[in-house]
Amino acid sequence: MTSTVPTDSVNTQLHEERTFAPSAEFAAQANGTQELYDAAAADRLGFWAEQARRYVSWSTDFTQTLDWSEAPFARWFVGGELNACVNAVDRHVEAGLGSRVALHFVGEPGDTRDITYAALHEEVQRAANVLTELGVGAGDTVAIYLPMIPEAVVAMLACARIGAPHSVVFGGFSAEALHSRIADARAKVVVTADGGYRRGRPSALKPAVDAALDHGESSVTSVLVVRRTGQETPWHERDLWWHEALEAADATHEAQRFDAEHPLFILYTSGTTGKPKGILHTTGGYLTQAAYTNHVVHDVHPDTDVYWCTADVGWVTGHSYIVYGPLTNGATQVMYEGTPDSPHQGRWWEIVQDYGVTILYTAPTAIRTFMKWGRQIPDGFDLSSLRLLGSVGEPINPEAWMWYREVIGGERCPIVDTWWQTETGAIMISPLPGVTPTRPGSAQVAVPGICVEVVDDVGAPVERGVAGYMVLTEPWPAMLRGIWGDPQRYRDTYWSRFYGLYFAGDGAKRDEDGNIWFLGRVDDVMNVSGHRLSTAEIESALVSHPKVAEAAVVGAADDTTGQAICAFVILRSEAVEEADEPGEGGDLVQELRAHVGREIGPIAKPRQIMVVAELPKTRSGKIMRRLLKDVAEHREVGDVTTLADSSVMTMISEGLRSD
Ligand code: WT7
Repeated sequence: MTSTVPTDSVNTQLHEERTFAPSAEFAAQANGTQELYDAAAADRLGFWAEQARRYVSWSTDFTQTLDWSEAPFARWFVGGELNACVNAVDRHVEAGLGSRVALHFVGEPGDTRDITYAALHEEVQRAANVLTELGVGAGDTVAIYLPMIPEAVVAMLACARIGAPHSVVFGGFSAEALHSRIADARAKVVVTADGGYRRGRPSALKPAVDAALDHGESSVTSVLVVRRTGQETPWHERDLWWHEALEAADATHEAQRFDAEHPLFILYTSGTTGKPKGILHTTGGYLTQAAYTNHVVHDVHPDTDVYWCTADVGWVTGHSYIVYGPLTNGATQVMYEGTPDSPHQGRWWEIVQDYGVTILYTAPTAIRTFMKWGRQIPDGFDLSSLRLLGSVGEPINPEAWMWYREVIGGERCPIVDTWWQTETGAIMISPLPGVTPTRPGSAQVAVPGICVEVVDDVGAPVERGVAGYMVLTEPWPAMLRGIWGDPQRYRDTYWSRFYGLYFAGDGAKRDEDGNIWFLGRVDDVMNVSGHRLSTAEIESALVSHPKVAEAAVVGAADDTTGQAICAFVILRSEAVEEADEPGEGGDLVQELRAHVGREIGPIAKPRQIMVVAELPKTRSGKIMRRLLKDVAEHREVGDVTTLADSSVMTMISEGLRSD
């Protein structure tokens, strides 16, 4: 694993003095209290056992809170049995809450559906019966490739109900990316849709599934297709319409109980190599921490709040904070299919106003986009229902934090900046909104029950004010249980950098009050609009193009997206002759961008591709990305003394200037 000493390139203002204490009114009603910190500090495992019994209904109680004897492979709530879908749906209906709205769905074209817990209950039972009839049993995997529509939630819960781990693939990923995820997880069934809506227009999804399955032999025996857009759709023998299958299925399904450690889902995420990792999460610990953090960090009061997490279910945020956390808590939430600017730039604020949204959980990149559009847009709507704001996905700069607080939150809503990862499964570092005085730009403190540290190169805690690596020092209930099919990669990636510590891959430092500030990734992972992408993944996509000989990708700072993808490519000699001219521009660059879009997905298309004659390399042949980053960020190029050929950087800089 490569990692460089973290720098302050992301957050330069680490001496923020402003703090905002919670109002007495907010603190008085808050779910998260100082007592939680005290209880967790006094007896951490006892604390988690209590949360597990508080937030989750167990069919069989557990006998041991944590078995860490085979570290780093953890078993939480040993001996316990439960069903995640029953926890998220059935038990609320049984408690008489069937008429409560689970999802206020807002489609991009303006169609809406309010789905109660009772309706969700019927749908998940029908879907569980359909999957069972298609031969899906406990332990079989199901791939879900859907737009942001309620059927995505139903499909996930139906899988959980029958013990079939789901692998949700973000609808923006390409057929190629879908293929490799289906193949790696050996999915038996794919759930997809004819299409979804994007900026007012239907956009097809099913053809990508067909292309993904067009690779010869496949583990997939059936494809369930939700009819969303009604567009013309190619059909194969293995295809079934979702609505027809559900209608024909029995409306009742008796849920089985599963072991606390039964796999709940696999979710692929980018690492330092080209091949995405299938992060494995199991049932009891994951559900406990997702529900607990949604309750104490988002401060969800299920009987009165209207909660809205703007993430896509294709990412972990959607898994934990649309599906498993809020539904386990019996909350009412908004689910929105579209983009913030369609049909107009006030769409989100109109939704907040129309549904009386009280809790909004979104990403810094969205906030910065709204800042760019101007405050007159949100100012045109009534946002007075909001009482708590959350941020996730990347460091939030203090300016965006202050704008969020003033313009969206009307200076009355606490902001929780929540740090976590696909691997951690649930929020790890965040203020508790009724307890912690918040500080713009800092994710602040570990949530009760979580133990973190900032360490130096040899794993020793650093002093306050000194940059180091974020590590987690104790196992936690929602931790990943491994990488699907690759236990060694799990050890190597997370547990071998520092003995006995989980290496998160983030740079961090503490301020004089102990608040944690994140400094960005220290490895070859980029964060573009809160989406995680690896430089290696995009490099291998570029190199797979017949005209490219070599490629190097860096993440350059970007005001809106946090980081932007910049690629430097060397062409094969045949292609050089055809190319218009060196440097940027030309059809070739468009061709390469489109190629990356096909290989991975539109989110991975480089903002900039620069055709160069050479790449800067050390004598041992390692590409010096640091120098390319200097070029991409328009800085004076740094120390070049370790380059094998020190004239390379001059050539690159001059080649670009001569365009
Ligand atoms: C990486 C994880 C957490 C769900 C969405 C992303 C960065 C995430 C924050 C934050 C600073 C953050 C980290 C982390 N990150 N939240 N509040 N402050 N950085 O999940 O795709 O697995 O990415 O996102 O770099 O390692 P993910």
